[in-house]
Amino acid sequence: MTNRIGPSTGSTLAIAAIALAFGGATLVDSGTTRAQGAPPAATTPAQIKAATQIDAAAIQANLASSKDWPTVGLDYAETRYSKLAGINAGNVKDLGLVWTYNLESKRGVEATPLVVDGVMYVTASWSVVHAIDVRTGKRLWSFDPKVPPSFGEKACCDVVNRGVALHKGKVYVAAFDGRLIALDAVTGAKLWEKDTIIDHSRPYTITGAPRVASGKVIIGNGGAEYGVRGYVTAYDAETGAPAWRWFCVPGDPSKPFEDESMKKAAATWDPAGEYWKAGGGGTPWDTIAFDPELKLVYIGTGNGSPWSQKRRSPKGGDNLYLGSIVALHVDTGAYAWHYQETPGDNWDYTSTQPMILADLKIGGAPRKVILHAPKNGFFFVIDRTNGKLVSVKNFVEVNWAEGFDKTGRPIETPQARPDGPFDAIPGPYGAHNWHPMSFNPTTGLVYLPAQNVPLGLMDDKEWKYGAVLPGRAGTGTGWNTGMIINAQPPRSKPFGRLLAWDPVHQKEAWRVEHVSPWNGGTLTTAGNLVFQGTADGRFVAFDARTGKKLWESPTGTGAMAGAATYQVDGKQYISIAVGWGGAYGMSQRTSEKIGPGTVFTYALGGKASPPPFVSVKLEGLLTGVKYDPKQAPEGLALYVSHCVLCHGVPGVDRGGNIPNLGYVKPEIITELDKYVFNGPYVKDGMPDFTNRLKPADLDKLRAFIQGTADSIRPKK
Ligand code: HEC
Repeated sequence: MTNRIGPSTGSTLAIAAIALAFGGATLVDSGTTRAQGAPPAATTPAQIKAATQIDAAAIQANLASSKDWPTVGLDYAETRYSKLAGINAGNVKDLGLVWTYNLESKRGVEATPLVVDGVMYVTASWSVVHAIDVRTGKRLWSFDPKVPPSFGEKACCDVVNRGVALHKGKVYVAAFDGRLIALDAVTGAKLWEKDTIIDHSRPYTITGAPRVASGKVIIGNGGAEYGVRGYVTAYDAETGAPAWRWFCVPGDPSKPFEDESMKKAAATWDPAGEYWKAGGGGTPWDTIAFDPELKLVYIGTGNGSPWSQKRRSPKGGDNLYLGSIVALHVDTGAYAWHYQETPGDNWDYTSTQPMILADLKIGGAPRKVILHAPKNGFFFVIDRTNGKLVSVKNFVEVNWAEGFDKTGRPIETPQARPDGPFDAIPGPYGAHNWHPMSFNPTTGLVYLPAQNVPLGLMDDKEWKYGAVLPGRAGTGTGWNTGMIINAQPPRSKPFGRLLAWDPVHQKEAWRVEHVSPWNGGTLTTAGNLVFQGTADGRFVAFDARTGKKLWESPTGTGAMAGAATYQVDGKQYISIAVGWGGAYGMSQRTSEKIGPGTVFTYALGGKASPPPFVSVKLEGLLTGVKYDPKQAPEGLALYVSHCVLCHGVPGVDRGGNIPNLGYVKPEIITELDKYVFNGPYVKDGMPDFTNRLKPADLDKLRAFIQGTADSIRPKK
């Protein structure tokens, strides 16, 4: 989803932009650094074996000490609140680097590292797993599931992965191509592999971290931008035998309903939209939380597929269970309850954002709740025993709804479902995206990476499932949103901020403004600290009560993932895996540094030096490519449908983790055929457009790319 390009006009580029970027994308391997002095003793295989016998009892026992970080959100409740206070607001100024570890990846890194007794498991882009010895910072093993590069074009939001799960000596990774893989935690050897995809003719993917609950590995799938039907599946953690599957939206009505919840859901969709042809969406691609007492597993479901409700379900309806929190019985997968945060989604408002389970005193009474800040800009407190709304309040400016009524339904604004363009606030990137939030029971505050990325939406009356429509974003690589993006340049303002939110009183406690959207997830500790990585390449510690900045350190590239903290041999460490990318970061960048995916590990008194940081060197604005200006409008249309989602607007964006074609050597654009038709970067996820574009189309693309560069070049 790029920011500022209209579908049909060749001359006027909507440059109403976030001018964020500074350099071009050249990536070099920057090596590994370690602390000086005598090398610490390495972790032994016997220690690794003992360490990784994580089960439900171990996860629950860890609650008392937070010594380890055994599951992606730290605990079943996904609080990301650590009781460790060795590093605290008083001494965090002495925090220093202990080691860095090169993940050898140049796309986005979104994983929170898991650490048990000095053994770390973390994933890089393309779902590659790394096991690292925290005592030495050295690799124990790595595992590359070898996802076919052709999956690159199925990545709406980069070829990312948010981490692994651990259970009784096994490490589980969900590969981007939909395989759930169990590895031996000691050796990295593959033990079993399950294909989670129900239909390989559909562009299903996985980016989320699996969770193990009640002896089952649970994982949801993604792909709703392209046209899929969302579902979540559980497998026996030991054997990989399928345990249950729950679909998030109803399927083809000519076939029997899978369960009663699907029958109920189907009544909320208009069959005239033939939604099952595009899949309907609802993909639960990220958050999963578990309440072991209630034996309920909670998932957040995704957006409509297509985005446009007029195309999907012309007569409207709630379109259950899009944009919902759904509770399922952990042992059977049976539906327990749902709460729909965005009925009849029309704006890509997913509810897949990381949720947190908390026990709060609200109005004097103890309540078991879910805290949730989905894309739609409202902060929800939901009773997790029954799905009833406790309270809701917008945490950023929103323009699609005025609020929620007593029954828990949004009061939509009149402009929210227009025939013409809508400058949706929040835009489809969400007021909060996948970047995890944390909840500190001592301060009572949730630390939430909030943002706005302007993006205009307009229902596309010409949309047909699977049709390649020049000028319609991404349709050349399978996008099926039924929306025209930025038919008018959006007027809303971009921002990124760290928000401290009081969920009991539903109000902001403090905020820190960042230079751009797309900042990192948060970690909070009993040391009165909040840690967050930033889009401009820093790892920062704030006072959890006041938001005062207490410490920061450069990370050499944008830092998006959540950090983890843990204790090894009595000493507290903090680790964050950095690596710029994701939906926003493929084409845009906030830092002039763009290093490879790297794990940074810190402790008090750490004195290691970081790897050499890599400044991106952009070629000058493209010049000298011959073209016929009359072909620019057709070139624009082809560029929007085939290139813009990965490469951004030439010369306007300046490249994210994928280069911007307005800042490359002219011979690359002159010889575009070498790149577009089975080129050298197919192995890196660049699509092969053979039989999808004609050689004559490349003249048009050249006219648009060079023409745009010429039109924005300052006049002498
Ligand atoms: C799914 C994402 C995606 C799409 C869509 C895409 N590309 Fe790429 N492209 C890539 C990646 C990834 C690379 C390799 C980047 C790297 O590793 O440096 C690349 C590289 C390139 C390069 C080489 C750039 C250089 O600096 O050497 C050119 C030229 C290029 N693409 C042109 C295009 C054109 C033209 C289109 C549209 C017809 C297009 N690409 C569509 C992902 C994409």
